Amino acid sequence: MLSEILNLVKAQERWRGKQCLNLIPSENIMSPQARSLLSSDFAHRYTARNRFYMGTRFADELEQFGEKIAKKVFKAEVVDLRPLSGHIADWIMLTYLAERGNRLMCVSPEDGGYPGMWKNGLAGVLKLKVVAFPFSKHDMNILVEQAKKAVQRFRPKFLIFGASLITFPQPVKELAEAAREVDALVGYDGSHVLGLIAGGQFQDPLREGAFALFGSTHKSFFGPQGGIILADREHGEVIKERICPAFVDNAHWNRIAALTLALAEMEKFGKAYAKQVTKNAKAFAEVLSEYGFPVSCAHLGFTQSHQATLDYGGYDQGRVIAERLQQANIIVDCAVRVGTCEVTRRGMKETEMRRIAELMKRAVIDKESPNRVKKDVAKLTGEFQNAEYCFA
Ligand SMILES: Cc1ncc(COP(=O)(O)O)c(C=O)c1O
Repeated sequence: MLSEILNLVKAQERWRGKQCLNLIPSENIMSPQARSLLSSDFAHRYTARNRFYMGTRFADELEQFGEKIAKKVFKAEVVDLRPLSGHIADWIMLTYLAERGNRLMCVSPEDGGYPGMWKNGLAGVLKLKVVAFPFSKHDMNILVEQAKKAVQRFRPKFLIFGASLITFPQPVKELAEAAREVDALVGYDGSHVLGLIAGGQFQDPLREGAFALFGSTHKSFFGPQGGIILADREHGEVIKERICPAFVDNAHWNRIAALTLALAEMEKFGKAYAKQVTKNAKAFAEVLSEYGFPVSCAHLGFTQSHQATLDYGGYDQGRVIAERLQQANIIVDCAVRVGTCEVTRRGMKETEMRRIAELMKRAVIDKESPNRVKKDVAKLTGEFQNAEYCFA
């Protein structure tokens, strides 16, 4: 029994950890130091807001330390590190909305919005009416003038920017005024672009009219899997009070230890990291397009984020491509989104983006034997086994 379990973990470490080119934009790797904190003693412990548990001295200190760094990194007044995932951070924020009214405007999943926020997800569970931002698929962005009109017409109580498929900064600043006129709050689900925001290489929602930025800590942000909420004082303090016992009981302090270290890494290395992630994404998209892949938004320079999209017209055809790539140990999703967070964290630059694009071309366009491509994938990944942008 033991060996079966250990063998599965070893196989995963070998395959996804060492042999694959991991291009899923929702994924990243932690530094070895942050990763090791996940197995620290904090993994066994509880704390509670009402001081029910003894023995919490260092966890309490750690939480304050993490919050202090996060406040600096994101220039936020209030921080909470307890949400156990981006989805739970969304849930906390939408519940706050549910008290204020019942209409939410966000990006529809059809346009790359997060399905967990939509009708079959949290909005449905919380009985919120959702209205989609008018959206241009061609430009992969919200249509500002139509959105202003939609805000006036539907008078939502909450506008949530951000998306799962996000390649360009969204018009937060442009729509914040329209939101104010109907007394709506503006929030930003930064699950995907949090690391780019931390590194100052995307938009800065908290300066553009959003009262809160929230989401996952493990996509372009290179922390452990989990969530975070950053907000202004007025609303942030209220939200913070509600988190326990409603949404999070034990906050998983080993995760918070790793997150605190990732925040410190981001403070020191975030700018260089985020710059390289976006440069890599653009370079990668350009070469893929040169090779004949259907990369979206050529007219806008393909992307300004950590991801680019190959438009195969739907998940069915996307799956065919993703499966072919998987046979060569190149891992993408069925959207088909390609992301540069992890390969950048491993130290790859524009030269390697060309090499990856070439490997993808051999697998998908030239239809070369996956086993042959796989060998060259292993050669490339073998050169980049460490994490960069972390303390030595
Ligand atoms: C925009 C967005 N928000 C929230 C989530 C949920 O994040 P998590 O997987 O951390 O729960 C996702 C997941 O992919 C996402 O893309």
